[in-house]
Amino acid sequence: MSGNRVTKAVIPAAGLGTRFLPATKAMPKEMMPVVDKPAIQYVVEEAAAAGLSDILMITGRNKRPLEDHFDRSVELEARLKERGDLAGLELIHAATDVAAVHFVRQGDPKGLGHAILTAATFVGSEPFAVLLGDDLIDPRDAILPRMIEVQAEFGGSVIALMEVSPDEISLYGAAAIEPGTEADVVRVTSLVEKPAAAEAPSNYAVIGRYVLSPEIFEVLEKTPPGRGDEIQLTDALQVLAQRDDRGGPVHGVLFKGRRYDTGDRLNYLKTIVQIASERNDLGPEFLNWLKEFISEKR
Ligand code: G1P
Repeated sequence: MSGNRVTKAVIPAAGLGTRFLPATKAMPKEMMPVVDKPAIQYVVEEAAAAGLSDILMITGRNKRPLEDHFDRSVELEARLKERGDLAGLELIHAATDVAAVHFVRQGDPKGLGHAILTAATFVGSEPFAVLLGDDLIDPRDAILPRMIEVQAEFGGSVIALMEVSPDEISLYGAAAIEPGTEADVVRVTSLVEKPAAAEAPSNYAVIGRYVLSPEIFEVLEKTPPGRGDEIQLTDALQVLAQRDDRGGPVHGVLFKGRRYDTGDRLNYLKTIVQIASERNDLGPEFLNWLKEFISEKR
């Protein structure tokens, strides 16, 4: 059992972003704007809103824009002050003041599990959260606070699970589950990374939110490369799922809320449209235009 409050979050941001070339030639994919904020800022804000104010971002090549985005911009601030642009000032402070963001470089891109291993020193000996940047969770449907609560109650590790259609399960880690004592919590009995539809243990997909026991590091160190010849976080969690202590068991919190995917071009476009339509400042006008545009396209 762990009564420790989770305060640290790890955000892997070392992906090559090849699906978005040439946009990601000189810029990390995490900096792709979703309306007017880089995707990664939504993720940092989600972590901060869950009380995770100490964040480690694991970066790879082209990390400069990420570091700059979460750092002060003295020149820009001075300009905005001169002009009396308080709204602008507030927007740039929102990026830097939301949390303390630290950076570490992954070195070789050997997979998500390998990226998480580089966070071992930062994390120390307490449970911690992992947020993957391709998944955006609507703040109205926040799941991390519930996951932290479940981890405090059951100990071990906790993952977020979402039911997807059978033809989508091969894009995700898939979990075999048993019902738990609470309606939204299940016990995870096994996990497999991106199975073929016919081999998937269920349609419950791992979405990119985890609250992990630090025991995961020892397991990751011994985890051989798996799918795609990469060290997979899912494979290490499969080991923890077989344990009753030392990082296990693994519980799943079922997510039924609004989730947006920025991982590929089509979903990225859908995400922008969805988020823009819900914005008070842009939504009404944008939706009116969109309706007209679509009726003309018919
Ligand atoms: C990663 C994980 C996978 C998970 C997915 C969620 O895969 O390896 O288990 O289901 O994130 O977005 P990726 O999409 O980075 O290949």
